[in-house]
Amino acid sequence: MSWLNLEGKIVVITGAASGIGREIAAVFAENGAKVIIADLSQKGEDVVSQLPGGRERHLYIQTDVTKVVSVEAMVKKTIAICKRIDILVNNAGILIPRLLVDPEDPKGKYELHEEEFDRMTSINQKGPYLCTQAVVREMIERKVKGVVVNITSESGLEGSEGQSCYAATKGALYAFTRSWAKELGKFGIRVVGVAAGILEKTELRTLEYEKALAYTRGITVEKLRERYEKVSVPLGRAGRLREVANLVCFLASDKASYTTGTTYNISGGKTRA
Ligand SMILES: NC(=O)c1ccc[n+]([C@@H]2O[C@H](COP(=O)([O-])OP(=O)(O)OC[C@H]3O[C@@H](n4cnc5c(N)ncnc54)[C@H](O)[C@@H]3O)[C@@H](O)[C@H]2O)c1
Repeated sequence: MSWLNLEGKIVVITGAASGIGREIAAVFAENGAKVIIADLSQKGEDVVSQLPGGRERHLYIQTDVTKVVSVEAMVKKTIAICKRIDILVNNAGILIPRLLVDPEDPKGKYELHEEEFDRMTSINQKGPYLCTQAVVREMIERKVKGVVVNITSESGLEGSEGQSCYAATKGALYAFTRSWAKELGKFGIRVVGVAAGILEKTELRTLEYEKALAYTRGITVEKLRERYEKVSVPLGRAGRLREVANLVCFLASDKASYTTGTTYNISGGKTRA
């Protein structure tokens, strides 16, 4: 038995076809867990085949976390194949940088429109609600003392210029974490959050994202990229995806058995929240 004792655990990770989720899947798989990648993107198939144990051991289930039918089908299929779910990681999320108002641009290209508000809210906030509800129902029915990990962001408590809607959805995850821990403690189910700061590049950082964020900060894309390199972080660098994944796996393991309702900041000392 290894120190984390994750061997044989059934772990559902949303949005694990890329970025942080893919790294979380890798660390769970390296520690002997069986991973279910629940992602909209078919790239999840390739990720599964690259994990230790490959397709024989792990599973990709195409899932849209914003649709209750899709989420319930994913949970049903996982239960049919794996018999239970021990750990859920709510990781799928998007970030569309937008200003609340932009007096400089009458067309409001980078203002927060209702459509973007709805998209971010439905993936980042409704998604974790739908997934947690469906998974926890199964945990309770099967008397599994499981763990839910919500991937949030330091912006959820700190706020962020040009990212108010994103920050609000991430702030909601702090509240979900605290509230669900209070509701689910009596079933032995723990709920924890992981709030990352500035990290090495993931697929979230598209050119469109960079253009929008640079605009909201009144700088060029080149300047924005320079700032990634020279981030004002006490530890002097951006966080590694592996460092986030290690924290998630520790919190999901029995080594963190008395930890619930708390969100852990992982920002190299940049923020307290
Ligand atoms: N990258 C960072 O610096 C950073 C910092 C703090 C927090 N986060 C959070 O970490 C999480 C992962 O971010 P990332 O940087 O790895 O992003 P990413 O874009 O690399 O990955 C996000 C994944 O979510 C999937 N996804 C999107 N919509 C979906 C839907 N409706 N249903 C299912 N899957 C869907 C995408 O297909 C993609 O695979 C997000 O919640 C993000 O807010 C990221």
